[in-house]
This record gives sequence, C-alpha cells and structure tokens, in this order.
Amino acid sequence: MKEETTPPSNHPDHNAPAAPANSAGSLPNSRKVFVKTYGCQMNVYDSQRMADSLAAEGYVTTDTPDDADMVLLNTCHIREKASEKLYSALGRLREMKKQRHKNGREMIIGVAGCVAQAEGDEIVRRSPSVDLVVGPQTYHRLPQALAQVRQGQQVVDTEYAVEDKFEHLPAASRDRLSKRGVSAFLTVQEGCDKFCTFCVVPYTRGSEVSRSVTQIVNEAVRLVQAGVRELTLLGQNVNGWHGIGDDGREWGFGELLYRLAEIPDIARLRYTTSHPRDMDDVLINAHRDLDILMPYLHLPVQSGSDRILRAMNRKHKADDYIRLIERIRSARPDMALSGDFIVGFPGETDEDFEDTMRLVREVGYAQAYSFKYSPRPGTPGADLPAHVEEQVKDERLQRLQALLSEQQYAFQDSLVGTEMDVLLEKPGRLEGQMIGRSPWLIPVIIDKNPGEAGDMIRVRVTTTGTNSLVAEKCA
Ligand code: 5AD
Ligand code: SF4
Repeated sequence: MKEETTPPSNHPDHNAPAAPANSAGSLPNSRKVFVKTYGCQMNVYDSQRMADSLAAEGYVTTDTPDDADMVLLNTCHIREKASEKLYSALGRLREMKKQRHKNGREMIIGVAGCVAQAEGDEIVRRSPSVDLVVGPQTYHRLPQALAQVRQGQQVVDTEYAVEDKFEHLPAASRDRLSKRGVSAFLTVQEGCDKFCTFCVVPYTRGSEVSRSVTQIVNEAVRLVQAGVRELTLLGQNVNGWHGIGDDGREWGFGELLYRLAEIPDIARLRYTTSHPRDMDDVLINAHRDLDILMPYLHLPVQSGSDRILRAMNRKHKADDYIRLIERIRSARPDMALSGDFIVGFPGETDEDFEDTMRLVREVGYAQAYSFKYSPRPGTPGADLPAHVEEQVKDERLQRLQALLSEQQYAFQDSLVGTEMDVLLEKPGRLEGQMIGRSPWLIPVIIDKNPGEAGDMIRVRVTTTGTNSLVAEKCA
C-alpha cells in the first residue's frame, strides 16, 4: 500500500528529484556526477550543496547514472523501507561499476545522508563496491574524501565535525544558483532535540543547530539575485530556530521571518517542518503581518490521542494543538493546514485511533501525510510493548487516508471560482501552458501563455485536476 495520502513535491517522505542537471558551462573534459536524492526537502538542499562542492572539483551534474563518473546516493532513514531502497540501488550500481571497470572507466560510488550516518561501516561491509560514505554533518569534507578514494582508500567519514559545515562549503557559482529555479530551499536549522520516541532524526541529524542570521540573509540575498522568488526555509524543527539578530538581541524564528521579508524582490516565504510547541506569538503574528508569508502550514500532530501523544513524547495534548490552530487561524483566516500522522504506534487501541480521526475532522486538513508506524532500531518506541498487528495498521491507515483525501478534495473544490495569485514556475505539457503554485502550494495549470517563469499573476480557478487546479488568467 502506498503510504502518502497525496504525492506533492515537497514533503519529508516524498522521493525527491535528483539534483538539477548542469549542462551549461560544462568543460569538455569535466567529470560527471549523478546525485540521487531520497527523503525530505533538506536532503534536496544538501544534494544541491554537495553538487556545488563537487562542481568546484570539476564535476558537472548529470541526470542519469549511465554516463556518470561518480554516483552519490543521498539517503533517508526515517522508515525501514527507505534504507532498503538504498541497498537495492547499491546492488544495481555494483553491476554497473563492474561493467565500467571492464571498459577501463572509473565509477565512484558514494553514500551520503541519514542512512550513511546511522549505518556507515555496515554500508561498506554489506556493499564493498561503495567508495565513500559521508554523513549529513560531514559532507563539506567530500573533496578530501574524494582525494583519499583516488589514493585507493575506502572512506567512511561520519564523525560529527566540530566545525560548521556551512562555513566550509563553497558558495555556489552564479551559474549553478541560477539553476535553482523560481523556488528554492534554504536550510536555516538542523537537527532535533525533541526526541519523539518513534523518530531517528535526533540520532542521524544530531542536536539542534541554528545557522546565523548573517549566513541565512546572505544566502537568501544571493538566491534572490540569481532569480529565486520563493524561499522555503528548512529545518527538522524549523520554528525552533534561534539566533542573535541584527539588533544584538536573541531572535526566534518569527523575528527571522520579519527580517527576511525585508529583502527586496522576495515574493514568497514558506517554511517547514514545525513543531507545535515552538509556535510562539511572534511567529503567529508574522502570519498576520507578512503578506509574503504564505498561508499554508505543515504542522504535524502525529496522533489525536493524549495517551499516545504521551508515549510518543510529543509534550503536548490533542487539545493544545486544536487551540493552537484556532489562534493561528484567527491571525490568518485563510490559513490551510497540512500534517503528519502515524497509525499503529505501540499500544494504540481502537479508541486512540478514533481520537485521531476526531482530531482530523475537527481541524480539517488541506493536505496531509500518514504512515504506518515503523519501528526504528535504537529509538525508544521500538522497545515498547504491545506492537500493533500489521493488518490493523493497514486498516487504520486506509480509513485515515480516505478521510484525509476527502478533506483534500473538499479544500481544492472550495477554491473553484475564486481568484488568487499564482507564481509561475515552468512550462506545462501542452503548448502555451504554464504551471505555477497557489499560495497553498497546490500546482495551478494555466493555458494561453499567461506569462513567464517567475511572474506572479492573478488567476481565477475554473476547475480542479488530480492534485492540481486549472485556472485562467484574470483580465
Ligand atoms: N514510523 C512511521 N512514521 C514515522 N515518521 C517519523 N518516524 C516514523 C516512524 N518510525 C513520520 C512522522 C514524521 C514524518 C517525517 O515521518 O509522521 O513527522
Ligand atoms: Fe523527529 Fe519529533 Fe524531532 Fe520531528 S520533532 S524530527 S518527529 S524527534
């Protein structure tokens, strides 16, 4: 069974695209790297930064492993299936590498990301054809690792670095930045100190670290100067970001948003993923005050049962979450909600599950993701008693997903006949068609050459497609 309720492009669990190809400006003798990204948006961002760093080593990116001199798999460890995907990909690559060697050509295989962090030595043991392994906090040392590989070594570099990787990563060239497109990711915070009992993130990404205001603002300005109009700020616990502001005071995430909104030519700001406990008043007020902060919030609750929330170590109750949503909606009435849910956490009874269904009905989601609980070795949840049977998990997931899909379609239908601003991103499949994004992230398809990528246009929605809206440009 497919686990996501919908297949949108920007979610932690969605298989992300490979880092964008960089054909322009390639040197005839340059090597090619294929970067395959699994998992969340932060991995997409990390892949881009690794590709930037490899560009400085003479590698251009390619969108197929077939002609690549190096293949880098940027992995996800959030659920069991995710790491299995890595091992089957490595099996295929081993054959490819053998073939390549027969023809006298190099093929370096690298593994990065959260599986690399969690299983570093295990990866090279299970897959000896892997040349290098770097973790999410050590990928700035990729050039050194590559130099060691060239000297015939196999490298596993997953020791947390004392230095700040962002200070050591090369800034992307203007050429590479211009390929980020209209909408780009910017990591502002990494790691998590919340220790939800089901989650591997605090172990794979480490404890919470916030990037400095200067680093973030500089990177945002460079992206905007290269043509980016929409920035999505990323963090495992993004609204836990904090740092010293321009005024010398300690800022929270809300203050950072007010600061970024001052950058000329930023058209839209988004952020993900947030924890309910870190939604403070300044952040809620930012939603009231900043037009460019989009009215769409991914705010996972995971369960609607207080008993299960306690066992998950979420440190809030279902009712706290519902009151919080009310406050957010009174600050920004057109706010649409997205969330994450886990069904079948150990000990979850039918009653607990009904509490989740009740919460979903009460909140009303525009879009959401739901997963069967997957025990992760080393997390406290895995050792809890009363694991739920697979079949029960399946049934609960099906019921939850049916409700969430119903809500998603109801939300999309409610937009038919309304006007909205759409940020155009790319041409559609048909001649003269463009695809853009609504404020609520839903793709919008518009015919008749409505404008160019990067234009913000006013449209009226005529109908809905599957996970999209169809609209016409307002006169
Ligand atoms: N099992 C199932 N789902 C999980 N998630 C995180 N860990 C697990 C797990 N062990 C889900 C949560 C989280 C999202 C990114 O993935 O819902 O918010
Ligand atoms: Fe994982 Fe919980 Fe941290 Fe989110 S808040 S990254 S679910 S530990």
